[in-house]
Amino acid sequence: MAKKKLMIHDFYRMKKDGEKITFLTSYDYPTAQFAEAAGMDMLLVGDSLGMCVYGYPGTVPVTMDQCICHAEAVRRGAPNTFVVGDMPFMSYQSSIEKAVENAGRFLKQAGCDAIKLEGGVRVAPQIRAIVDAGIIVMGHIGLTPQSSGQLGGHKAQGRTVESARAVVEDALAVQSAGAHMILLEAIPPEVAGYIRRKLAIPALSIGAGLDCDGQLLIVSDMIGQFQAFTPKFVKKYCNVAEVVTSAMRQYVAEVRGGAFPEDEHCYHMLPGELEKFQSEYK
Ligand code: KIV
Repeated sequence: MAKKKLMIHDFYRMKKDGEKITFLTSYDYPTAQFAEAAGMDMLLVGDSLGMCVYGYPGTVPVTMDQCICHAEAVRRGAPNTFVVGDMPFMSYQSSIEKAVENAGRFLKQAGCDAIKLEGGVRVAPQIRAIVDAGIIVMGHIGLTPQSSGQLGGHKAQGRTVESARAVVEDALAVQSAGAHMILLEAIPPEVAGYIRRKLAIPALSIGAGLDCDGQLLIVSDMIGQFQAFTPKFVKKYCNVAEVVTSAMRQYVAEVRGGAFPEDEHCYHMLPGELEKFQSEYK
């Protein structure tokens, strides 16, 4: 039986009932298929694809066209999962019109169910306009990688009272602007728990501890594929880099040693054709 696709009202019910929302990034068709088979509630086509797929040093170079292309593949791989498209750097900051237009592309072109954008108080007008266009919006506050330069690097936020106050203000601004969900990245669990209780909308965590309505991980971290660095909040559930590298090493050795391919990997000539071929091509 096909998996039942959860929609925004299901996530509100889950928050109310204390049922945790499972959330993972995905950038391609096969990974989306695996996630749907695993029963994931929600997928994020994150601009982290810049690092995880393209090898950029950060998310800033990622374009709308790249995000749309990956979102289309994820949609095809997970037709029964709620998919969120992540708005890349400069797709929403410079004007409200641009923000609405680009948010709309995720739904129209890629078939996403919602969009996510980074920032609190300072992107409230964009959130309001996108929501007014009829689009489901997820806010993203705390450590916001697109503005990590201003934050002094990829650093946890809200660890002092002053910084926590700014995070709480951002959370309230995101909800007041009409966002339907919020993602809290790299903030203390105590601050995240306060925000979760204060907000009516689901508050999801990536590195914000257990006291949230659900959890997000970056798939490339979670399966041990991304090797450049591992944030403190990551748990590796397997080591794909090790498994794949060891399989490739074995392939290299078998090709060099003539152990691959074996007879079972060959297409033989049809019955009766071999003799004719061999008498013609001596
Ligand atoms: O792009 C992404 O995967 C994200 C997470 C870091 C939250 O925005």
